[in-house]
Amino acid sequence: MDNVQFAKGLEGVIAAETTICKIDGENGKLYYYGYSIEDLAELSDFEEVSYLLLYEKLPTSAQLDEFRSNLRAGRNLAPQIVEMIRSFPEKAHPMELLQSVISYLSGYVEHKIDHSPSCNCRITLHQIAQISTVIAAWERLRKGKDFVAPRDDLSHGANFLYMIRGEKPEPYEGDIMDKCLTLHAEHGFNASTFTARVVASTLSTCYCSISAAIGSLYGSLHGGANERVMDMVDEIGSKENVKPWIENALSKKQKVMGMGHRVYKVKDPRSTIMEQFLVELSEKKGDSKYYDILKEVENEFRSKMEAKGKPIHPNVDFFSGAVYRLLGIPVVLFTPLFAAARVSGWLAHILEQRKDNRLYRPKGLYKGTEPKAFDPIDKR
Ligand SMILES: CC(C)(COP(=O)(O)OP(=O)(O)OC[C@H]1O[C@@H](n2cnc3c(N)ncnc32)[C@H](O)[C@@H]1OP(=O)(O)O)[C@@H](O)C(=O)NCCC(=O)NCCS
Repeated sequence: MDNVQFAKGLEGVIAAETTICKIDGENGKLYYYGYSIEDLAELSDFEEVSYLLLYEKLPTSAQLDEFRSNLRAGRNLAPQIVEMIRSFPEKAHPMELLQSVISYLSGYVEHKIDHSPSCNCRITLHQIAQISTVIAAWERLRKGKDFVAPRDDLSHGANFLYMIRGEKPEPYEGDIMDKCLTLHAEHGFNASTFTARVVASTLSTCYCSISAAIGSLYGSLHGGANERVMDMVDEIGSKENVKPWIENALSKKQKVMGMGHRVYKVKDPRSTIMEQFLVELSEKKGDSKYYDILKEVENEFRSKMEAKGKPIHPNVDFFSGAVYRLLGIPVVLFTPLFAAARVSGWLAHILEQRKDNRLYRPKGLYKGTEPKAFDPIDKR
């Protein structure tokens, strides 16, 4: 054990064995329990993907029906939660609200506190069912509108848009929203997932684990890159301004948001799918401004970086902000929406952690002073 290497940020350290998510960064592939993200986005939906993440296999038709109806029955919020959202400080970020609500929520769930190595989140399903309702409620209440109760005849994504708008979205919009949740549902040992596992390893509740993971996702180095992509798009303003903007950014060694990834060395497969959604939405809504700018940024930046021998490709955040904006979702909801999707992956990791648990307890490399005498205060 003494020759264990120090790795800042645990980079490259294998923290656990896992069967949930395979990321093939060299070839741009992503799998949840062996199913490719392309197949899941095309052939499945967020509820079925959540079942897969919680039960490690695809459901039969009867299993899926039961799971869907449990999930949908759990979407609505207790009046006290709606009041909590209403009374949350006006200037607080919705991620702060979400983190608090998840802890508070556990007080409204029967038989919810389970400190055993197994976990009852498969039964309650509350975190998956309710996070998007909380986000939509916050969005409406802060604008002085009424809370819109969820509908149980809509997919998870379509219902989210319905609760924000108060009107049923077009089927293609609901479908794209739902698939965006699938794309964000799981991605291995990122910071928030690792946070969820660390908390789960103490046998704390799954509510506490999810609440901690939300806190981790809130940080600007984790969630939030798609917000900054939209800041960039707004600053650029038009396709014609892309070239000078990129030249200026590169000369100032400024990062181009949404480009590049620690793991993917080719185009992030989620970005390829997101791009198709943006093309479809741009066509349907007759507004290709965001797509035109982003595509030009991708081409221009890539060719400049390739010329330097550093090929850099779009990541999942590159097109997602524009997709959300065309769906009418304000920027402040982008990271909360990430949480609404990733919660299924977090729960999968919590379950996996508990199945073969060992409390996480790394150690620090001590760089402080050698032991010394304690001087009484009048001698210092
Ligand atoms: C994600 C990120 C941190 C990965 O960085 P990384 O691991 O250093 O990436 P690479 O090793 O492939 O980078 C190779 C080179 O390209 C540069 N580069 C990578 N992404 C870049 C970007 N978006 N803009 C400008 N330069 C970039 C790196 O600085 C590095 O340059 P160097 O050789 O002079 O040090 C980085 O790409 C980034 O900051 N992207 C923008 C933020 C973002 O979209 N984050 C969300 C990630 S899901």
